[in-house]
Amino acid sequence: MSLLVRVAEVTDETHQIRTLRLIREDGAPFGPYEAGAHIDVTGPTGVLRQYSLCGPPDDPASLLIAVKREPRSRGGSAALHQVAPGDSLEIGEPRNLLSLAEEAERYVLVAGGIGITPLLSVAYALHSRGAEFELHYFARSRQEAAFVELLETRSEFSDRVRFHLGVPRGEQPELFAAMAAAATPACHVYTCGPQGFMARVTSVFTPVVGEDQVHVEHFVAAQVDTSCDHAFTVELDTGEVFEVPAGKSILAVLEEGGIDVFKSCEEGICGSCVSGILDGVADHRDNCLSAADKASGTQIALCVSRARSDKLVIELY
Ligand code: FES
Repeated sequence: MSLLVRVAEVTDETHQIRTLRLIREDGAPFGPYEAGAHIDVTGPTGVLRQYSLCGPPDDPASLLIAVKREPRSRGGSAALHQVAPGDSLEIGEPRNLLSLAEEAERYVLVAGGIGITPLLSVAYALHSRGAEFELHYFARSRQEAAFVELLETRSEFSDRVRFHLGVPRGEQPELFAAMAAAATPACHVYTCGPQGFMARVTSVFTPVVGEDQVHVEHFVAAQVDTSCDHAFTVELDTGEVFEVPAGKSILAVLEEGGIDVFKSCEEGICGSCVSGILDGVADHRDNCLSAADKASGTQIALCVSRARSDKLVIELY
């Protein structure tokens, strides 16, 4: 369901990152959302993009998003850098792919660059719960780090945040190793940032806490070798059968067949198209399902993932 919102406030966090505070056009309050959630935002040019919510998840008055202007923007982030207070935008319901573990001895949040945005809402939620957490924020420089003043001055964060500014990539593993050495098996780790950054965090913390307790939030699609793709059959729980050739996604084949599938990013990031698997084995290529979800073999992202078996039986959500 989409919702009309108005831009109430625009703040330049850095020369590339701008926050937009959004309020409902109808003046009604927002419902609470889960920490780490994101929303679809349709900008003035009609381009739809996903943005993490970075305010307190229980604030009914407004939603906050941070938009980094991408140098090769195809109309999404650049257009949102043009909006002004009073402008209207269309947004979707908050969706969450980064589930926050209920019980952890301590939460370790590791953000790289714009990856601070979902982890900021996680930090607000952990503070509300009275949970033990630490937030490590890596950025190229103080000038390029968003939310510095907020993180330094708000009592929720001031003694929990460690800034790591201008740390060369080659020196990051040493810092990650020091954090991991202080962690216990009952910690949960949440990371968001560039792919390589998250991969380094994951590889250092996994031996300490296990892969199910390292949670990653992806912004960009995974690069996958598709040269060995083969054709397979998809059967819906309604009995309709489709042939998916190499070079075409399940989502594309279903849409061509007149089946309506909820979708958004079409890159395996947002989770909109995730559906149930009733039979068959998936070849997971998304960045939205957790390792545990993939291992359970019960869900698949139809826009990017394929089949290892000759046939998949799918239940559309
Ligand atoms: S449409 Fe976003 S994960 Fe498939």
